[in-house]
Amino acid sequence: MTLKIACIGAGYVGGPTMAMIAHKCKDIEVTVLDINEERIAAWNSDKLPIYEPGLEEVVFACRGKTLFFSTECEKKVAEADIVFISVNTPTKTRGVGAGYAADMTYWEGAARMIAKVSHSPKIIVEKSTVPVKTAQAVERVLSNNVLNDGARFDILSNPEFLAEGTAIKDLENPDRVIIGGRQTPSGLKAIQTLKDVYAQWVPEEQILTSNLWSSELAKLAANAFLAQRISSINSISALCEKTGADVSEIAKCIGADSRIGPKFLNASVGFGGSCFQKDILNMVYICKGLGLEEIARYWESVVTINNLQKRRFVDIVISSLFNTVRGKKIAILGFAFKKDTGDTRETPAIDVCNGLLDEGADLAVYDPQVTEERMKTDLSLDKFEWDHPYTHRKAKEVEDHIECCDSVYKACEGAHAVCILTEWDEFKTLDLKKIYDSMVKPAFIFDGRNVVDGKHAKEVGFVFYGLGKPLDPFLTDPSSPCSP
Ligand code: UDX
Ligand code: UDX
Repeated sequence: MTLKIACIGAGYVGGPTMAMIAHKCKDIEVTVLDINEERIAAWNSDKLPIYEPGLEEVVFACRGKTLFFSTECEKKVAEADIVFISVNTPTKTRGVGAGYAADMTYWEGAARMIAKVSHSPKIIVEKSTVPVKTAQAVERVLSNNVLNDGARFDILSNPEFLAEGTAIKDLENPDRVIIGGRQTPSGLKAIQTLKDVYAQWVPEEQILTSNLWSSELAKLAANAFLAQRISSINSISALCEKTGADVSEIAKCIGADSRIGPKFLNASVGFGGSCFQKDILNMVYICKGLGLEEIARYWESVVTINNLQKRRFVDIVISSLFNTVRGKKIAILGFAFKKDTGDTRETPAIDVCNGLLDEGADLAVYDPQVTEERMKTDLSLDKFEWDHPYTHRKAKEVEDHIECCDSVYKACEGAHAVCILTEWDEFKTLDLKKIYDSMVKPAFIFDGRNVVDGKHAKEVGFVFYGLGKPLDPFLTDPSSPCSP
Protein backbone atom coordinates (compact mmCIF):
# COMPACT_ATOMS: atom_id res chain seq x y z
CA MET A 1 0.00 0.00 0.00
CA THR A 2 1.31 3.47 -0.87
CA LEU A 3 2.10 5.65 2.14
CA LYS A 4 -0.04 8.79 2.06
CA ILE A 5 1.19 12.11 3.41
CA ALA A 6 -0.95 15.22 3.81
CA CYS A 7 0.43 18.62 4.79
CA ILE A 8 -1.81 21.39 6.15
CA GLY A 9 -0.35 24.74 5.04
CA ALA A 10 1.02 25.34 1.54
CA GLY A 11 3.36 28.20 2.45
CA TYR A 12 7.10 28.81 2.23
CA VAL A 13 7.70 25.82 4.49
CA GLY A 14 4.94 23.35 3.57
CA GLY A 15 5.19 23.79 -0.23
CA PRO A 16 8.92 23.25 -0.81
CA THR A 17 9.32 20.62 1.94
CA MET A 18 6.53 18.43 0.60
CA ALA A 19 7.73 18.94 -2.97
CA MET A 20 11.13 17.55 -1.94
CA ILE A 21 9.59 14.51 -0.21
CA ALA A 22 7.46 13.80 -3.31
CA HIS A 23 10.50 14.31 -5.55
CA LYS A 24 12.67 11.88 -3.59
CA CYS A 25 10.11 9.22 -2.60
CA LYS A 26 8.42 7.68 -5.61
CA ASP A 27 6.41 5.32 -3.37
CA ILE A 28 4.71 8.07 -1.36
CA GLU A 29 1.67 10.14 -2.36
CA VAL A 30 2.00 13.67 -1.00
CA THR A 31 -0.89 16.16 -0.91
CA VAL A 32 -0.33 19.75 0.18
CA LEU A 33 -3.46 21.42 1.55
CA ASP A 34 -4.42 24.99 2.23
CA ILE A 35 -7.57 26.90 3.06
CA ASN A 36 -6.43 29.62 0.69
CA GLU A 37 -7.91 28.71 -2.71
CA GLU A 38 -5.84 31.28 -4.59
CA ARG A 39 -2.62 29.83 -3.16
CA ILE A 40 -3.55 26.29 -4.14
CA ALA A 41 -4.56 27.45 -7.62
CA ALA A 42 -1.13 29.08 -7.97
CA TRP A 43 0.63 25.88 -6.84
CA ASN A 44 -1.32 24.07 -9.58
CA SER A 45 -0.42 26.68 -12.23
CA ASP A 46 2.70 27.59 -14.24
CA LYS A 47 3.46 30.49 -11.89
CA LEU A 48 4.08 29.12 -8.39
CA PRO A 49 3.04 31.34 -5.46
CA ILE A 50 6.58 31.66 -4.09
CA TYR A 51 9.89 32.40 -5.77
CA GLU A 52 12.62 29.98 -4.80
CA PRO A 53 15.54 28.99 -7.05
CA GLY A 54 15.12 25.39 -8.28
CA LEU A 55 11.58 24.99 -6.92
CA GLU A 56 9.82 24.99 -10.29
CA GLU A 57 11.94 22.13 -11.60
CA VAL A 58 11.14 19.98 -8.56
CA VAL A 59 7.39 20.78 -8.54
CA PHE A 60 6.90 20.43 -12.28
CA ALA A 61 8.74 17.08 -12.29
CA CYS A 62 6.41 15.39 -9.79
CA ARG A 63 3.15 17.38 -9.75
CA GLY A 64 0.23 15.14 -10.70
CA LYS A 65 2.37 12.02 -10.12
CA THR A 66 3.46 11.90 -6.48
CA LEU A 67 2.68 15.53 -5.56
CA PHE A 68 -0.78 17.10 -5.35
CA PHE A 69 -2.10 20.47 -4.19
CA SER A 70 -5.66 20.67 -2.94
CA THR A 71 -8.17 22.59 -0.81
CA GLU A 72 -10.01 19.39 0.15
CA CYS A 73 -8.45 19.47 3.61
CA GLU A 74 -10.80 17.15 5.50
CA LYS A 75 -10.93 14.46 2.81
CA LYS A 76 -7.17 14.31 2.26
CA VAL A 77 -6.36 14.38 5.99
CA ALA A 78 -8.83 11.52 6.55
CA GLU A 79 -7.00 9.43 3.94
CA ALA A 80 -3.46 10.19 5.15
CA ASP A 81 -1.11 8.05 7.25
CA ILE A 82 1.12 10.99 8.15
CA VAL A 83 -0.20 14.55 8.56
CA PHE A 84 2.29 17.43 8.67
CA ILE A 85 1.06 20.69 10.17
CA SER A 86 2.74 23.71 8.63
CA VAL A 87 0.34 26.54 9.29
CA ASN A 88 1.51 29.93 10.45
CA THR A 89 1.99 30.77 14.11
CA PRO A 90 1.98 34.60 14.10
CA THR A 91 3.07 36.76 17.00
CA LYS A 92 -0.03 37.79 18.95
CA THR A 93 -1.02 41.40 18.38
CA ARG A 94 -3.53 41.63 21.22
CA GLY A 95 -4.46 40.01 24.51
CA VAL A 96 -2.16 38.09 26.86
CA GLY A 97 1.42 37.96 25.55
CA ALA A 98 0.77 40.49 22.75
CA GLY A 99 4.00 41.33 20.92
CA TYR A 100 5.74 38.15 22.16
CA ALA A 101 3.64 35.00 22.32
CA ALA A 102 2.78 32.84 19.32
CA ASP A 103 -0.87 32.84 18.28
CA MET A 104 -1.82 29.17 18.21
CA THR A 105 -5.34 29.60 16.84
CA TYR A 106 -4.56 28.05 13.44
CA TRP A 107 -2.70 25.19 15.07
CA GLU A 108 -5.51 24.29 17.40
CA GLY A 109 -7.97 24.54 14.52
CA ALA A 110 -5.88 22.10 12.48
CA ALA A 111 -5.68 19.64 15.41
CA ARG A 112 -9.44 19.76 15.98
CA MET A 113 -10.11 19.15 12.31
CA ILE A 114 -7.74 16.14 12.28
CA ALA A 115 -9.52 14.66 15.32
CA LYS A 116 -12.92 15.15 13.70
CA VAL A 117 -12.22 13.49 10.37
CA SER A 118 -9.87 10.65 11.34
CA HIS A 119 -10.96 7.00 11.23
CA SER A 120 -7.50 5.41 11.25
CA PRO A 121 -4.21 5.72 13.19
CA LYS A 122 -2.12 8.71 12.11
CA ILE A 123 1.25 10.23 12.78
CA ILE A 124 0.91 13.99 13.32
CA VAL A 125 4.07 15.94 12.57
CA GLU A 126 4.76 19.46 13.82
CA LYS A 127 6.56 21.20 10.97
CA SER A 128 5.82 24.81 11.93
CA THR A 129 8.01 26.36 14.58
CA VAL A 130 5.99 26.16 17.77
CA PRO A 131 6.40 26.99 21.45
CA VAL A 132 7.92 24.21 23.56
CA LYS A 133 5.23 21.81 24.82
CA THR A 134 2.92 22.42 21.85
CA ALA A 135 2.92 18.67 21.21
CA GLN A 136 1.37 18.17 24.62
CA ALA A 137 -1.41 20.63 23.84
CA VAL A 138 -1.99 18.98 20.47
CA GLU A 139 -2.13 15.54 22.09
CA ARG A 140 -4.75 16.81 24.52
CA VAL A 141 -6.85 18.43 21.80
CA LEU A 142 -6.67 15.28 19.67
CA SER A 143 -7.35 12.75 22.42
CA ASN A 144 -10.31 14.72 23.76
CA ASN A 145 -11.96 15.14 20.40
CA VAL A 146 -11.67 11.77 18.69
CA LEU A 147 -15.07 10.97 17.22
CA ASN A 148 -14.44 7.77 15.34
CA ASP A 149 -13.31 4.27 16.28
CA GLY A 150 -9.94 3.37 14.90
CA ALA A 151 -8.46 6.87 15.19
CA ARG A 152 -5.25 7.09 17.25
CA PHE A 153 -2.42 9.60 17.10
CA ASP A 154 1.32 9.76 17.63
CA ILE A 155 2.76 13.27 17.69
CA LEU A 156 6.21 14.01 16.32
CA SER A 157 8.23 17.20 16.17
CA ASN A 158 10.20 17.59 12.94
CA PRO A 159 11.29 21.23 12.69
CA GLU A 160 12.32 22.67 9.32
CA PHE A 161 15.69 24.41 9.01
CA LEU A 162 15.52 25.53 5.37
CA ALA A 163 16.45 29.14 4.65
CA GLU A 164 14.57 31.03 1.96
CA GLY A 165 16.47 31.59 -1.25
CA THR A 166 18.33 28.29 -0.71
CA ALA A 167 15.34 26.12 0.28
CA ILE A 168 15.81 23.47 -2.40
CA LYS A 169 19.53 23.12 -1.69
CA ASP A 170 18.86 22.97 2.06
CA LEU A 171 16.11 20.37 1.64
CA GLU A 172 18.12 18.23 -0.74
CA ASN A 173 21.23 18.27 1.39
CA PRO A 174 20.28 19.20 4.97
CA ASP A 175 22.93 19.56 7.70
CA ARG A 176 20.60 17.45 9.81
CA VAL A 177 17.01 16.31 10.15
CA ILE A 178 15.59 16.27 13.68
CA ILE A 179 12.74 13.99 14.69
CA GLY A 180 11.45 14.20 18.24
CA GLY A 181 8.82 11.90 19.69
CA ARG A 182 7.55 10.20 22.79
CA GLN A 183 9.98 7.56 24.03
CA THR A 184 7.22 4.92 24.20
CA PRO A 185 6.94 1.85 21.92
CA SER A 186 4.37 3.56 19.67
CA GLY A 187 6.25 6.90 19.76
CA LEU A 188 9.50 5.16 18.77
CA LYS A 189 7.69 3.32 15.96
CA ALA A 190 6.33 6.63 14.65
CA ILE A 191 9.84 8.13 14.76
CA GLN A 192 11.13 5.19 12.72
CA THR A 193 8.34 5.58 10.11
CA LEU A 194 9.26 9.24 9.52
CA LYS A 195 12.98 8.43 9.63
CA ASP A 196 12.42 5.90 6.82
CA VAL A 197 10.91 8.68 4.67
CA TYR A 198 13.93 11.00 5.05
CA ALA A 199 16.39 8.09 4.82
CA GLN A 200 15.42 7.78 1.14
CA TRP A 201 17.83 10.66 0.47
CA VAL A 202 19.41 11.87 3.74
CA PRO A 203 22.34 9.83 5.20
CA GLU A 204 21.11 8.05 8.35
CA GLU A 205 23.79 9.57 10.61
CA GLN A 206 22.37 13.01 9.79
CA ILE A 207 18.89 12.07 10.99
CA LEU A 208 18.92 12.88 14.70
CA THR A 209 16.19 11.60 17.00
CA SER A 210 15.32 13.04 20.39
CA ASN A 211 12.53 13.49 22.85
CA LEU A 212 9.70 15.82 21.82
CA TRP A 213 10.73 18.80 23.92
CA SER A 214 14.38 18.82 22.77
CA SER A 215 13.22 18.81 19.18
CA GLU A 216 10.76 21.66 19.69
CA LEU A 217 13.29 23.75 21.61
CA ALA A 218 16.15 22.95 19.20
CA LYS A 219 14.41 24.91 16.46
CA LEU A 220 13.85 27.99 18.62
CA ALA A 221 17.41 27.77 19.95
CA ALA A 222 18.94 27.40 16.47
CA ASN A 223 17.16 30.50 15.20
CA ALA A 224 18.05 32.43 18.37
CA PHE A 225 21.75 31.53 17.98
CA LEU A 226 21.77 32.53 14.30
CA ALA A 227 20.04 35.84 14.99
CA GLN A 228 22.34 36.46 17.93
CA ARG A 229 25.37 36.15 15.64
CA ILE A 230 23.97 38.82 13.33
CA SER A 231 23.18 41.15 16.22
CA SER A 232 26.68 40.54 17.56
CA ILE A 233 28.39 41.53 14.30
CA ASN A 234 25.93 44.41 13.85
CA SER A 235 26.79 45.75 17.30
CA ILE A 236 30.46 45.63 16.26
CA SER A 237 29.57 47.53 13.06
CA ALA A 238 28.45 50.51 15.15
CA LEU A 239 31.73 50.40 17.03
CA CYS A 240 33.67 50.20 13.75
CA GLU A 241 32.06 53.36 12.39
CA LYS A 242 33.09 55.25 15.53
CA THR A 243 36.66 53.94 15.62
CA GLY A 244 37.73 53.67 11.98
CA ALA A 245 37.81 49.84 12.03
CA ASP A 246 36.24 47.91 9.14
CA VAL A 247 33.58 45.32 10.03
CA SER A 248 34.37 43.12 7.00
CA GLU A 249 38.01 42.88 8.13
CA ILE A 250 36.85 42.06 11.66
CA ALA A 251 34.49 39.34 10.33
CA LYS A 252 37.36 37.81 8.39
CA CYS A 253 39.70 37.91 11.39
CA ILE A 254 37.26 36.44 13.90
CA GLY A 255 35.75 33.99 11.38
CA ALA A 256 39.20 32.44 10.85
CA ASP A 257 38.99 31.10 14.40
CA SER A 258 37.63 27.61 13.81
CA ARG A 259 35.65 27.84 17.05
CA ILE A 260 33.77 30.87 15.67
CA GLY A 261 33.66 29.94 11.97
CA PRO A 262 33.18 32.25 8.97
CA LYS A 263 29.44 31.93 8.23
CA PHE A 264 26.66 34.34 9.23
CA LEU A 265 29.02 37.21 10.01
CA ASN A 266 27.80 39.71 7.40
CA ALA A 267 26.93 42.99 9.08
CA SER A 268 23.66 44.29 7.68
CA VAL A 269 20.95 46.86 8.07
CA GLY A 270 19.23 44.21 10.21
CA PHE A 271 17.92 40.68 9.97
CA GLY A 272 14.42 40.06 8.69
CA GLY A 273 12.32 37.07 7.69
CA SER A 274 9.34 35.38 9.22
CA CYS A 275 11.31 33.45 11.84
CA PHE A 276 14.14 35.12 13.73
CA GLN A 277 12.30 37.90 15.53
CA LYS A 278 9.14 35.85 16.03
CA ASP A 279 10.98 32.85 17.45
CA ILE A 280 13.13 34.91 19.81
CA LEU A 281 10.15 36.86 21.14
CA ASN A 282 8.34 33.58 21.59
CA MET A 283 11.29 32.18 23.54
CA VAL A 284 11.45 35.37 25.63
CA TYR A 285 7.77 34.93 26.45
CA ILE A 286 8.29 31.31 27.45
CA CYS A 287 11.26 32.25 29.67
CA LYS A 288 9.25 34.97 31.39
CA GLY A 289 6.40 32.55 32.00
CA LEU A 290 8.85 30.15 33.63
CA GLY A 291 10.30 32.85 35.90
CA LEU A 292 13.58 33.09 33.95
CA GLU A 293 13.61 36.91 33.78
CA GLU A 294 17.37 37.44 33.18
CA ILE A 295 17.43 34.82 30.45
CA ALA A 296 14.43 36.46 28.81
CA ARG A 297 16.23 39.83 28.90
CA TYR A 298 19.40 38.30 27.47
CA TRP A 299 17.62 36.97 24.37
CA GLU A 300 15.41 40.01 23.97
CA SER A 301 18.54 42.13 23.57
CA VAL A 302 19.16 40.35 20.24
CA VAL A 303 15.94 41.94 18.93
CA THR A 304 16.77 45.27 20.59
CA ILE A 305 20.10 45.45 18.72
CA ASN A 306 18.35 44.57 15.47
CA ASN A 307 15.86 47.40 15.92
CA LEU A 308 18.69 49.75 16.81
CA GLN A 309 20.58 48.81 13.65
CA LYS A 310 17.62 49.80 11.43
CA ARG A 311 17.16 53.06 13.38
CA ARG A 312 20.88 53.83 13.16
CA PHE A 313 20.75 53.47 9.39
CA VAL A 314 17.78 55.85 9.06
CA ASP A 315 19.47 58.38 11.38
CA ILE A 316 22.67 58.31 9.32
CA VAL A 317 20.74 58.93 6.10
CA ILE A 318 18.84 61.85 7.59
CA SER A 319 21.81 63.50 9.33
CA SER A 320 23.96 63.13 6.18
CA LEU A 321 21.30 64.77 4.01
CA PHE A 322 21.69 67.96 6.07
CA ASN A 323 19.11 66.83 8.64
CA THR A 324 16.17 66.85 6.28
CA VAL A 325 14.79 64.46 3.72
CA ARG A 326 11.45 66.24 3.36
CA GLY A 327 10.43 66.29 -0.30
CA LYS A 328 13.69 64.62 -1.35
CA LYS A 329 13.63 61.62 -3.64
CA ILE A 330 15.50 58.66 -2.14
CA ALA A 331 16.11 55.49 -4.14
CA ILE A 332 15.57 52.24 -2.23
CA LEU A 333 17.35 49.32 -3.87
CA GLY A 334 16.02 46.01 -2.58
CA PHE A 335 12.92 45.42 -0.49
CA ALA A 336 12.98 41.64 0.14
CA PHE A 337 14.43 40.52 3.51
CA LYS A 338 17.33 38.82 1.69
CA LYS A 339 18.36 38.09 -1.89
CA ASP A 340 16.79 35.37 -4.04
CA THR A 341 13.35 35.62 -2.48
CA GLY A 342 10.30 37.80 -3.00
CA ASP A 343 9.43 37.43 0.69
CA THR A 344 9.13 40.70 2.62
CA ARG A 345 8.06 39.43 6.04
CA GLU A 346 9.83 41.53 8.72
CA THR A 347 12.21 42.86 6.06
CA PRO A 348 14.41 45.68 7.45
CA ALA A 349 13.31 47.67 4.38
CA ILE A 350 9.91 48.21 6.02
CA ASP A 351 11.39 49.94 9.08
CA VAL A 352 13.91 51.92 7.04
CA CYS A 353 11.25 53.08 4.54
CA ASN A 354 8.82 53.94 7.33
CA GLY A 355 11.56 55.91 9.11
CA LEU A 356 12.22 57.92 5.95
CA LEU A 357 8.51 58.37 5.14
CA ASP A 358 7.94 59.71 8.67
CA GLU A 359 10.48 62.41 7.84
CA GLY A 360 8.67 63.35 4.63
CA ALA A 361 10.89 61.63 2.05
CA ASP A 362 9.65 60.47 -1.36
CA LEU A 363 10.80 56.93 -2.03
CA ALA A 364 11.50 55.26 -5.38
CA VAL A 365 11.78 51.53 -4.72
CA TYR A 366 13.24 48.84 -6.93
CA ASP A 367 13.28 45.12 -6.12
CA PRO A 368 13.54 42.41 -8.78
CA GLN A 369 11.04 40.10 -7.04
CA VAL A 370 8.73 42.11 -4.78
CA THR A 371 5.50 43.36 -6.33
CA GLU A 372 4.31 46.97 -6.00
CA GLU A 373 1.18 45.82 -4.21
CA ARG A 374 3.20 43.85 -1.65
CA MET A 375 5.47 46.82 -0.88
CA LYS A 376 2.58 49.22 -0.45
CA THR A 377 0.67 46.83 1.76
CA ASP A 378 3.73 46.22 3.94
CA LEU A 379 4.28 49.92 4.43
CA SER A 380 0.64 50.42 5.41
CA LEU A 381 0.62 47.84 8.19
CA ASP A 382 1.38 48.07 11.89
CA LYS A 383 4.00 45.80 13.43
CA PHE A 384 3.15 42.06 13.33
CA GLU A 385 0.06 42.70 11.20
CA TRP A 386 1.56 41.00 8.13
CA ASP A 387 0.75 37.57 9.50
CA HIS A 388 -2.86 38.52 10.25
CA PRO A 389 -4.47 38.93 6.83
CA TYR A 390 -7.78 40.10 8.25
CA THR A 391 -6.35 43.41 9.52
CA HIS A 392 -4.90 44.78 6.25
CA ARG A 393 -5.48 48.46 5.60
CA LYS A 394 -4.24 50.91 2.94
CA ALA A 395 -2.63 54.22 3.78
CA LYS A 396 -2.94 57.19 1.49
CA GLU A 397 0.51 58.56 2.43
CA VAL A 398 2.07 55.39 1.10
CA GLU A 399 0.29 55.82 -2.23
CA ASP A 400 1.46 59.43 -2.47
CA HIS A 401 5.09 58.99 -1.43
CA ILE A 402 6.16 55.67 -2.90
CA GLU A 403 6.99 55.05 -6.50
CA CYS A 404 7.76 51.47 -7.52
CA CYS A 405 10.28 51.34 -10.35
CA ASP A 406 11.11 48.57 -12.78
CA SER A 407 14.82 49.36 -12.94
CA VAL A 408 17.61 50.55 -10.66
CA TYR A 409 18.43 53.43 -12.98
CA LYS A 410 14.87 54.72 -13.04
CA ALA A 411 14.71 54.62 -9.24
CA CYS A 412 17.95 56.58 -8.93
CA GLU A 413 17.20 59.26 -11.54
CA GLY A 414 16.87 62.65 -9.82
CA ALA A 415 17.41 61.11 -6.36
CA HIS A 416 19.46 62.71 -3.58
CA ALA A 417 20.51 59.36 -2.13
CA VAL A 418 20.55 55.64 -2.84
CA CYS A 419 19.91 53.18 0.01
CA ILE A 420 20.83 49.52 -0.61
CA LEU A 421 18.70 47.31 1.63
CA THR A 422 18.91 43.82 0.02
CA GLU A 423 22.09 42.14 -1.22
CA TRP A 424 20.79 41.23 -4.73
CA ASP A 425 23.70 40.16 -6.95
CA GLU A 426 22.77 42.70 -9.62
CA PHE A 427 23.64 45.52 -7.18
CA LYS A 428 27.28 44.39 -7.22
CA THR A 429 27.73 45.36 -10.85
CA LEU A 430 25.82 48.65 -11.11
CA ASP A 431 26.98 51.33 -13.53
CA LEU A 432 27.77 53.80 -10.74
CA LYS A 433 28.87 56.55 -13.15
CA LYS A 434 25.52 56.42 -14.95
CA ILE A 435 23.68 56.54 -11.63
CA TYR A 436 25.82 59.40 -10.31
CA ASP A 437 25.30 61.49 -13.45
CA SER A 438 21.52 61.20 -13.11
CA MET A 439 21.34 62.24 -9.43
CA VAL A 440 21.11 65.49 -7.46
CA LYS A 441 24.52 66.55 -6.03
CA PRO A 442 26.04 65.86 -3.62
CA ALA A 443 24.95 62.32 -4.41
CA PHE A 444 24.99 59.77 -1.58
CA ILE A 445 25.07 55.97 -1.42
CA PHE A 446 24.13 54.29 1.85
CA ASP A 447 25.06 50.66 1.47
CA GLY A 448 23.26 48.66 4.15
CA ARG A 449 24.54 45.32 2.80
CA ASN A 450 28.12 46.12 1.80
CA VAL A 451 27.64 45.03 -1.80
CA VAL A 452 29.04 48.10 -3.57
CA ASP A 453 32.77 48.76 -4.01
CA GLY A 454 33.07 51.85 -1.81
CA LYS A 455 36.43 52.91 -3.25
CA HIS A 456 35.00 52.94 -6.77
CA ALA A 457 31.87 54.80 -5.62
CA LYS A 458 34.02 57.51 -4.07
CA GLU A 459 36.13 57.77 -7.24
CA VAL A 460 32.95 58.31 -9.23
CA GLY A 461 32.05 61.21 -6.91
CA PHE A 462 29.60 59.73 -4.42
CA VAL A 463 29.58 60.44 -0.72
CA PHE A 464 29.67 56.81 0.35
CA TYR A 465 28.49 55.14 3.54
CA GLY A 466 29.26 51.43 3.93
CA LEU A 467 27.75 49.82 7.00
CA GLY A 468 30.46 49.26 9.63
CA LYS A 469 33.13 50.85 7.41
CA PRO A 470 35.30 53.86 8.29
CA LEU A 471 33.09 56.93 7.81
CA ASP A 472 33.55 59.25 4.84
CA PRO A 473 34.84 62.59 6.25
CA PHE A 474 31.83 64.26 4.62
CA LEU A 475 29.56 62.27 6.94
CA THR A 476 31.39 63.14 10.15
CA ASP A 477 31.93 66.76 9.11
CA PRO A 478 29.44 68.03 6.50
CA SER A 479 31.69 71.10 5.94
CA SER A 480 34.39 68.91 4.41
CA PRO A 481 34.32 68.65 0.59
CA CYS A 482 33.15 65.46 -1.21
CA SER A 483 35.78 62.75 -1.57
CA PRO A 484 37.28 63.34 -5.04
C1 UDX B 1 4.85 29.24 8.71
C2 UDX B 1 5.36 29.96 9.95
O1 UDX B 1 5.57 31.31 9.62
C3 UDX B 1 6.62 29.36 10.44
O2 UDX B 1 6.99 29.90 11.67
C4 UDX B 1 6.42 27.96 10.65
O3 UDX B 1 7.64 27.38 11.01
C5 UDX B 1 5.82 27.29 9.43
O4 UDX B 1 4.67 27.94 9.00
P1 UDX B 1 5.44 29.64 6.22
O5 UDX B 1 5.21 28.38 5.48
O6 UDX B 1 6.54 30.53 5.77
O7 UDX B 1 5.82 29.35 7.70
O8 UDX B 1 4.06 30.43 6.39
P2 UDX B 1 3.01 30.82 5.28
O9 UDX B 1 3.69 31.01 3.98
O10 UDX B 1 2.18 31.89 5.87
O11 UDX B 1 2.13 29.47 5.13
C6 UDX B 1 1.18 29.04 6.01
C7 UDX B 1 -0.02 28.55 5.19
O12 UDX B 1 -0.96 27.89 6.04
C8 UDX B 1 -0.81 29.67 4.49
O13 UDX B 1 -0.84 29.44 3.10
C9 UDX B 1 -2.21 29.59 5.10
O14 UDX B 1 -3.25 29.88 4.19
C10 UDX B 1 -2.26 28.15 5.56
N1 UDX B 1 -3.24 27.89 6.62
C11 UDX B 1 -3.28 28.66 7.73
C12 UDX B 1 -4.14 26.83 6.46
O15 UDX B 1 -4.13 26.14 5.43
N2 UDX B 1 -5.02 26.57 7.45
C13 UDX B 1 -5.12 27.34 8.58
O16 UDX B 1 -5.94 27.09 9.43
C14 UDX B 1 -4.20 28.42 8.73
C1 UDX C 1 16.20 31.29 8.95
C2 UDX C 1 17.13 30.14 9.33
O1 UDX C 1 18.40 30.33 8.70
C3 UDX C 1 16.52 28.81 8.93
O2 UDX C 1 17.35 27.72 9.36
C4 UDX C 1 15.15 28.68 9.56
O3 UDX C 1 14.52 27.49 9.15
C5 UDX C 1 14.27 29.87 9.19
O4 UDX C 1 14.92 31.08 9.53
P1 UDX C 1 15.63 32.59 6.71
O5 UDX C 1 14.98 33.58 7.60
O6 UDX C 1 14.86 32.08 5.53
O7 UDX C 1 16.09 31.31 7.53
O8 UDX C 1 16.98 33.24 6.11
P2 UDX C 1 18.46 33.50 6.69
O9 UDX C 1 19.41 33.18 5.61
O10 UDX C 1 18.70 32.84 7.99
O11 UDX C 1 18.48 35.08 6.87
C6 UDX C 1 17.71 35.74 7.85
C7 UDX C 1 18.07 37.22 7.87
O12 UDX C 1 19.37 37.42 8.39
C8 UDX C 1 18.05 37.90 6.49
O13 UDX C 1 17.44 39.16 6.59
C9 UDX C 1 19.51 38.02 6.15
O14 UDX C 1 19.78 39.07 5.27
C10 UDX C 1 20.10 38.27 7.51
N1 UDX C 1 21.53 37.93 7.61
C11 UDX C 1 21.95 36.65 7.42
C12 UDX C 1 22.46 38.93 7.91
O15 UDX C 1 22.10 40.09 8.09
N2 UDX C 1 23.79 38.59 8.00
C13 UDX C 1 24.23 37.31 7.82
O16 UDX C 1 25.45 37.09 7.94
C14 UDX C 1 23.29 36.31 7.52
